[in-house]
Amino acid sequence: MEKIGVLGGTFDPVHKEHIAMAEGVIRELGLNKLIVVPTFIPPHKTHSECAPAADRLAMLKLAFEGINAEICEYEIEQGGTSYTYKTLEHIRKIYPESALYFIVGGDMLVDFKTWRYPERILAAADLAVFKREGYFADVAAERKYFSERFGKGFTELTYLGKHVSSTKIRLYAMFGLDISPYVSQSVAEYIEKHNLYPPTPAVELVKSVLAEKRFRHTADVAACALDKAKALGVGRNKAFDACVLHDIAKYVNPANFPGAVEKDVPAPVAHAFLGAYMLKNVFGVQDEEILDAVRYHTTGRAGMRPLEKLVFVADMVEEGRTFAGVEELRRLYDTNFDACFKECIRITYEHLIEEGNTPYKYTVEAYDYYVKEK
Ligand SMILES: [Fe+2]
Ligand SMILES: [Fe+2]
Repeated sequence: MEKIGVLGGTFDPVHKEHIAMAEGVIRELGLNKLIVVPTFIPPHKTHSECAPAADRLAMLKLAFEGINAEICEYEIEQGGTSYTYKTLEHIRKIYPESALYFIVGGDMLVDFKTWRYPERILAAADLAVFKREGYFADVAAERKYFSERFGKGFTELTYLGKHVSSTKIRLYAMFGLDISPYVSQSVAEYIEKHNLYPPTPAVELVKSVLAEKRFRHTADVAACALDKAKALGVGRNKAFDACVLHDIAKYVNPANFPGAVEKDVPAPVAHAFLGAYMLKNVFGVQDEEILDAVRYHTTGRAGMRPLEKLVFVADMVEEGRTFAGVEELRRLYDTNFDACFKECIRITYEHLIEEGNTPYKYTVEAYDYYVKEK
């Protein structure tokens, strides 16, 4: 019997791990064909959150060249919210006699039950689940649940998917950083040629004032924070602007702005306070949440808003950081943001003490508020 796999995603942009996974799954399931279904994305998104459908399609065609895959425009043509059950019932009609496998990552197994009409999905296709790096589903418990609720199991694949953040790829493109480690050459060329993820004014601004290393750090802070913003109830655009602008005063001499920074501010944290001052007084940023996120990104303070916490933590755990213990912080970042945040405050404070420095008053307040009392 003909075997067909179905793979959905936003593919914004399609990256190398998509291709590796598709090839791995085609091999493992012995598929005759893979149908790749890019989702429709509402057109009102900003900050390069999303490339137009036509471009996502064009990139998919480039990336899947030479692979036994067909790009299906069904969800894009339908518009609105894409529902997997509808898509699979549509594909089922075209291939009534084939074995259909709907391919998902292990992390989606838990979510699957909350999708619209999961039983209709399972009536139209079999679920094929590949593993995700750093994610361990309780497969036995899931099997039990599936069999009790749906009377049907799923196929477990050995393919281990690596974590690749599309957000990061879009940001790197936007910042003009090298994306060739993440996307195929043809896709990289397409993105560049069509200026698919253009820099925002904030990015242009920091590019003009930051050294290369700091500019890359800025991109990594934004990439790190954006994947977490929604979970913290922080607006994506706000998180983006705060991250992009957080180190804007890194190379500015506070003496150039008399009165901008209090006299008792230690030199290593002065850029945060100066940054907030400059954003407000030179660049006209009005948003107090963004200004505070910049202002307290190095010291922290008591009673921080979610956006402040996000920038503070992302600044510390972004992928370019290499200090001892950062791996553990990153693990916490993925699993328990609040615990990660408190650890970041604790480490900041205790590191200053160990080095014989006096933590600035806001760091002491933050330590007392978040760590000591607990
Ligand atoms: Fe900083
Ligand atoms: Fe920073």
